[in-house]
Amino acid sequence: MGNEYGLVDPDSVETPGDEWEEIDVSDTEADRIARKRDREFNQFQKRIKDADQFKVEQSVFDDATFAALYKLVQDGHVEAFGGPISTGKEANVYHALGPDDTEVAVKVYRINASNFRQMRDYLEGDPRFEGLGGKKKDVVLAWVKKESANLERARKAGVRVPRPIAAERNVLVMEYIGGEDGRAKRLGEVHVENPETAYEVMREYMRRLYSAGIIHGDLSEYNVVFHEGQLVVIDLGQSVTVHHPNSRGFLERDCRNVASFFRRQGLEVTDDELFEFVTDPEPDPSRE
Ligand SMILES: Nc1ncnc2c1ncn2[C@@H]1O[C@H](COP(=O)(O)OP(=O)(O)O)[C@@H](O)[C@H]1O
Ligand SMILES: [Mg+2]
Repeated sequence: MGNEYGLVDPDSVETPGDEWEEIDVSDTEADRIARKRDREFNQFQKRIKDADQFKVEQSVFDDATFAALYKLVQDGHVEAFGGPISTGKEANVYHALGPDDTEVAVKVYRINASNFRQMRDYLEGDPRFEGLGGKKKDVVLAWVKKESANLERARKAGVRVPRPIAAERNVLVMEYIGGEDGRAKRLGEVHVENPETAYEVMREYMRRLYSAGIIHGDLSEYNVVFHEGQLVVIDLGQSVTVHHPNSRGFLERDCRNVASFFRRQGLEVTDDELFEFVTDPEPDPSRE
């Protein structure tokens, strides 16, 4: 593991805007495709269902999920699906080929298995989702758009994250972080050679997220990967805005997890001093 951890030059960072982008959760093209079920879609679905890497998913992927995958292929974001990188509680992540020999990661949320009540709680206070009802489908759709918007916002704030490429219904396509020897390893899976520098990069990323109005909400050595000398923050689905009623509690927990990881690497850091660093300077509270 290298020593620089890829902290990007702040001079090249755009100042995040005060406006929050609108997020549309109206009926998707994928739902229309699933309803219409033309011959081409049926063939695609059969092919995917027969493919080894999706065998285990036959029972949990609904028609509209297949339609979302189909739409992503039609739109040219995905050329071929590879194997699963991770099968989690709420989402599976697949390796796939994108256009022009690129590699992409495809994160598929399982609507039926999703703990959507908890998801809904995480959307609270977020100005992008005002007026969102309690419908399970809408919540999951909002979730994927939120993850994509959070990744974009984080990127603009100078935090190294996977670049979001496309969001279709419950499926997110993003830049693949990894190389010939597979997906990038999580911070907790590698030997951290220079914990001081890694810590400095982490706390600066947390500060930049915070000043962009975002709190990760599940930050730990499990959601940071190490790739080509850089730390890359992943899994921003549950991230909340500073408007969330419990945003302070989430940030405190993130600080506890991160500080405790680096204490195990031998650093003398406290939860409080990390919290102080991250929240200074205060983001503009009038930001909407
Ligand atoms: N863009 C990506 N490139 C490569 N691997 C990824 C990417 N996104 C996620 N992964 C891998 O998949 C795992 C699960 O993804 P994550 O977004 O953390 O979902 P979960 O909510 O299941 O934790 C990660 O720990 C990481 O190993
Ligand atoms: Mg994760």
